[in-house]
Amino acid sequence: MELKMLDWDSSFFEKKIFSVQLNNDDDIDEIEFHLQKENADLAYVFIPLSSSISKKVADYSNIVLYDHKLTYKMNLSGKDFQAVENVEEVDASPNDDFISLAISSGTHSRFALDPSLNHKFEELYALWLINSLNKKLADKVFITKHKDLITSFITCKIKNEVGNIGLIATHENHRGKSLGRNLINQAHHWYLQNNIKVSEVVTQKANKIACAFYENYGFQISKEELVYHWHFK
Ligand SMILES: CC(C)(COP(=O)(O)OP(=O)(O)OC[C@H]1O[C@@H](n2cnc3c(N)ncnc32)[C@H](O)[C@@H]1OP(=O)(O)O)[C@@H](O)C(=O)NCCC(=O)NCCS
Repeated sequence: MELKMLDWDSSFFEKKIFSVQLNNDDDIDEIEFHLQKENADLAYVFIPLSSSISKKVADYSNIVLYDHKLTYKMNLSGKDFQAVENVEEVDASPNDDFISLAISSGTHSRFALDPSLNHKFEELYALWLINSLNKKLADKVFITKHKDLITSFITCKIKNEVGNIGLIATHENHRGKSLGRNLINQAHHWYLQNNIKVSEVVTQKANKIACAFYENYGFQISKEELVYHWHFK
């Protein structure tokens, strides 16, 4: 069992929030005792899909499943990605349309689904975009435009020799025109320029369109986890 207090989440949601990584042999009552002693309001509980402890978790009515989290991975070794025309880099503050596009990438997220957190969901995704553009959470943000409208965007960060996509969305009137595919091509071009050969992106199994999009692109699932919210108050 790994228990960690999450300072950023606690301050943003104004609740005392922990993360807990549960494994097969963990004693849930003992963890509950620790969390109550710490005066926790909420714990995000992460369980590998194959773990049998999810059966025990099912007995606790205040531990609710909010996400079947999929990590997709692609090996870029030996592949070639050219820079994509009409994709540009941005780092300026976003306008309201750009913020709405960022919010559209999170509609399946556990923060949108949990009724005790969803009043802050839009603000969370707006902040995620702002902090990606100012380079706190991302290294690069690429966009496509039609006239003045941002039609699609992607945020990317290189960490531990892996290129990670943070946010990606295409404006609903511009979907199905390969904008998303082109953004990933551009991200992969930039990764390879930096000698990064592994690309990863996380999504929710419930986001069927995103899963089809990543799988069609050539990503494969490398990790599956269940994420629960354990509310104490
Ligand atoms: C996922 C998303 C970014 C895809 O963007 P897009 O610009 O429409 O995607 P593309 O046109 O580049 O599609 C490339 C391929 O993905 C697959 N795909 C895209 N949309 C699909 C859909 N609605 N259903 C099934 N497959 C789809 C197709 O195989 C498509 O190839 P094809 O055009 O040859 O059939 C877009 O649907 C979106 O913004 N969704 C909402 C935000 C979101 O969920 N973001 C992901 C968060 S993890």
